Amino acid sequence: MRTLRKEATVDKKTSGYYREECNNIAGFYDMGIKLLCLPVGGEKKFRKRFVDSISPRKGERVLDVCCGTGTLSIMVAEKVGLQGMVVGVDLSPTMIEVAKQKGNHSNVEFVLATAELLPFKENTFNKILCSFGLHEMTKAGRRNALREMHIVLKKNGRLNINDGNLPKNPFVRFIYKTALTAVEEETAYNLIFKGNLWREIRESGFKITEHKTYFLDVLQMISARA
Ligand SMILES: C[S@@+](CC[C@H](N)C(=O)[O-])C[C@H]1O[C@@H](n2cnc3c(N)ncnc32)[C@H](O)[C@@H]1O
Repeated sequence: MRTLRKEATVDKKTSGYYREECNNIAGFYDMGIKLLCLPVGGEKKFRKRFVDSISPRKGERVLDVCCGTGTLSIMVAEKVGLQGMVVGVDLSPTMIEVAKQKGNHSNVEFVLATAELLPFKENTFNKILCSFGLHEMTKAGRRNALREMHIVLKKNGRLNINDGNLPKNPFVRFIYKTALTAVEEETAYNLIFKGNLWREIRESGFKITEHKTYFLDVLQMISARA
């Protein structure tokens, strides 16, 4: 199922709100992630798990949606080599600026755009990844973004998503809810505690092929095919 691009209407709440928020944190983002990942073996190990999950191959074209400061995009670019290409997209100009300052990689490009209206042609990418971006969008924003990803991904191309998950254990669930409410916005709470990411991914035309939860079930990785 390929939906018509003109159906995508950018959700102003998502795009307006988060750009401002992310602009403010871009300068500290990498340091914050490094500290957050310390208890789980460090950022490199944490990110490698996700990069490995998409098995990037030489020559592939990969899109990193909600790329932030570009750390993942650069890790994937090292795998696809000079014949391949990685494009990182984010709606925060400051995040994109920080990403662009991370050295000169001829096979990585960073583009300022919203995931809800991706500036690429149909069937452009072999793989798409989206790491901790969807919880920052409203339901309408996510629907637009997932549909756009489906359109720019090649037929049978792979989408891998890393984001929050609703843990089964009631105690972990309570702690997670308290932490999310304290540090994240309501979009994160709405997706993780009230939403159904699986259904949203399926409704955008993808077929889910793999699902793993980790770190006490509070995070999940979903693989799907276009
Ligand atoms: C938590 S950060 C994750 C960054 C990166 N993927 C990572 O793993 O470190 C979320 C990013 O999503 C971006 N974002 C949120 N909504 C977006 C949208 N509608 N379109 C593009 N980027 C968006 C934010 O600007 C922010 O940089």
